[in-house]
Amino acid sequence: MSKDLPFDRREFLKTAAAVAGVASLPGFAFAQGAKIKIGLMLPYTGTYSQLGVAITNGFKLAVAENGGKLGGRDIEYFTVDDESNPAKATDNANALVTRDKVDVLVGTVHSGVEMGIVKVVRESGTLHINPNAGAGAATGALCAPNIFRTSFTNWQPAYPMGKVLADRGIKKVVTLTWKYGAGEEAIQGFKEGFTKAGGTVVKELYLPFPSVEFQPLLTEIASIKPDAVFVFFAGGGGVKLIKDWQAAGLKGKIGLYGSGFLTDGVLDAVGDAAEGIETTLHYGDGIETPKNKTFRLNYAKTYKLQPDVYAVQGYDAGLLLIAGMKAVKGDVSRKKELYAAMEKAKIDSPRGTWTMSKAHNPIQDIYLRKVVGKENKVMGVAHKALADPARGCKMG
Ligand code: PHB
Repeated sequence: MSKDLPFDRREFLKTAAAVAGVASLPGFAFAQGAKIKIGLMLPYTGTYSQLGVAITNGFKLAVAENGGKLGGRDIEYFTVDDESNPAKATDNANALVTRDKVDVLVGTVHSGVEMGIVKVVRESGTLHINPNAGAGAATGALCAPNIFRTSFTNWQPAYPMGKVLADRGIKKVVTLTWKYGAGEEAIQGFKEGFTKAGGTVVKELYLPFPSVEFQPLLTEIASIKPDAVFVFFAGGGGVKLIKDWQAAGLKGKIGLYGSGFLTDGVLDAVGDAAEGIETTLHYGDGIETPKNKTFRLNYAKTYKLQPDVYAVQGYDAGLLLIAGMKAVKGDVSRKKELYAAMEKAKIDSPRGTWTMSKAHNPIQDIYLRKVVGKENKVMGVAHKALADPARGCKMG
């Protein structure tokens, strides 16, 4: 080959090698306009379907307010309906991570499904943002640099209600929940706060998830006659419990309390059966901040729906990712800087500003709320800047 040809074989090989080299450098793919891949693994069917929808809406609203991009990159979504089914969780998470090669896995609602996601992302190292599921282990014994949560641990909103009730002179409480991680951890959290403040849990009642066969349990509660009942339920299960409680004649006789999931996002569906129910949660109606007002307005305008705690958690997952991606200009391969920015982020949330704990879980105010009409009206702060104890987390 003549050496004065502009592109001989040797030159070609050299150039090809150089291009391959550049292509393997961090940042090459997105610099060429590749979209960032976001996996949304959430329930879109079953008792938690409304929760999955609200989280998705909230996340997409935050992204839309950021010009529809993350760190300057366009987005491609990969969506999986996880059905709140723990048996399918690792397969579903693996499909997103291995087949779709998502850059970020956002999900989920159900604590049992979350445990499957945690297993997969601890192995793959994929960035994971959990916008609801309260499984303590995700930011406890199984905490990891790539696992972040924008919601709560199941312990977090339940623990403060223990002191609230004990301070009112309530001494004997029966608990009722679904027998799975979230329910059990919420009851543990409540019990810890309640016994510390002098109360006694006289009976723990359970039914399998997602059963709503409450009748025999309500009969048992009526015969025990406790001072109050503390529950963990959410979504469709919450609606059914609130209605059955009234139908069983317990409303007004025995106080019904819970983590605020019981009454969040369900008030249109339960009529007046929820009136007066008090709960503790990291969000509520009537938070008079400019951020909350703007969020509620934009959400209602965009989706023709009122936002709830799940919408807020999804929105905050978007805000957290926006903060991280901004710091690395869209280059997810710069993991150290990405995670450091997410750890440092001060999230200007509709719930109030919050920061990340060392275990990657929000440190946040827990509000005492009361159902008044169609609102979970904030009555006060039950516990200021509450951090989960993050038992067993060795990070940070
Ligand atoms: C959970 O399974 O962790 C869970 C589900 C629904 C909620 C809260 C927690 O509203």
